[in-house]
Amino acid sequence: MIRVPFDFGDRTYDVTVGAGARHLLHEVIPATAERAAVVTQEAVPVEVEPGVERKVFTIGAGEAAKTLATVEDLCSRFARFGLTRRDVVVAVGGGVVTDTAGFAAAVYHRGVTVVHVPTTLLGQVDAALGGKTGVNLPEGKNLVGSFWQPGAVLCDTEVLGTLPPREYRSGCGEMAKYHFLGREGEDLEALALEARVARSVEIKASFVVGDERELLDADGAGGRPRACLNYGHTLAHALETAGGYDLRHGEAVAIGLVFAARLAAGLGRIDDARVARHEAVVDSYALDRTLPAGADTGELLALMRRDKKSRGGLSFVLDGPAGVEPVHDVAPAEVEAILKELAS
Ligand code: GLY
Repeated sequence: MIRVPFDFGDRTYDVTVGAGARHLLHEVIPATAERAAVVTQEAVPVEVEPGVERKVFTIGAGEAAKTLATVEDLCSRFARFGLTRRDVVVAVGGGVVTDTAGFAAAVYHRGVTVVHVPTTLLGQVDAALGGKTGVNLPEGKNLVGSFWQPGAVLCDTEVLGTLPPREYRSGCGEMAKYHFLGREGEDLEALALEARVARSVEIKASFVVGDERELLDADGAGGRPRACLNYGHTLAHALETAGGYDLRHGEAVAIGLVFAARLAAGLGRIDDARVARHEAVVDSYALDRTLPAGADTGELLALMRRDKKSRGGLSFVLDGPAGVEPVHDVAPAEVEAILKELAS
């Protein structure tokens, strides 16, 4: 087992990565807990044993279940179960489960401990880490939520073997970004799965602990901007919001990474060899790196202007001589040219 600390002072917790990590649940729940509310979905084939009285609460499938109504329903069911502030919520599933259960835990009794057991690769390298919780509104994704750090995260690499191949590949798209966020010259491809997941977790921690609430825009005394974890996500979110493209999140991120690299090269920030490195990493995960057929570049440009990093113009996270960093006010013509290049 590999343990990666997320150092938040008196809220510090470990993320444990390894085959069979889920079996350590009884060791990481709070000593005060007499009951565990296990939140999961019907389709999640993973059972956990917290070692205290347990009740399983299932939520619906897909993003459609990530709503305030689900949170209200969960909290009502927690109350009927008799869950107290000394007890624990255990989220077992992908990002929909950990985001929703994490937010329910953040607001139930004004906050109870949550332990995440992410069962997807995407959850293990991103969604379940760093304390972002929340649900969607009809007006947009993740519009209501809170930062609520978990008490522990158990990333059981054994359960990844049960994932449908496309779901696994989508997680690889998210993992691909870490190839460009670690130490200079570091080669994640040389690592076996468990070590690669653990290193991804460690890289994520290195951004999150110094900028928990994503307030930094440049490296500061506290650390590097958490926004850098959105590397490749500006185009990815636009593709997902535009809809109609049959893309999983990680598949969209893979395209977004290659787009960001080409844009950085177009702006003179990196050379062709570095662009080729991005393409090789995406290829190594057997992910597509061209825009889906029929992609509307005008629509994508308009959607990217609405990115949360935007200060009015087009903002991206881009590679450069000082590494990956937020870059603002990029010329629309430059962006459009790269989008057209990626469509061909
Ligand atoms: N998923 C990006 C973050 O946690 O900040």
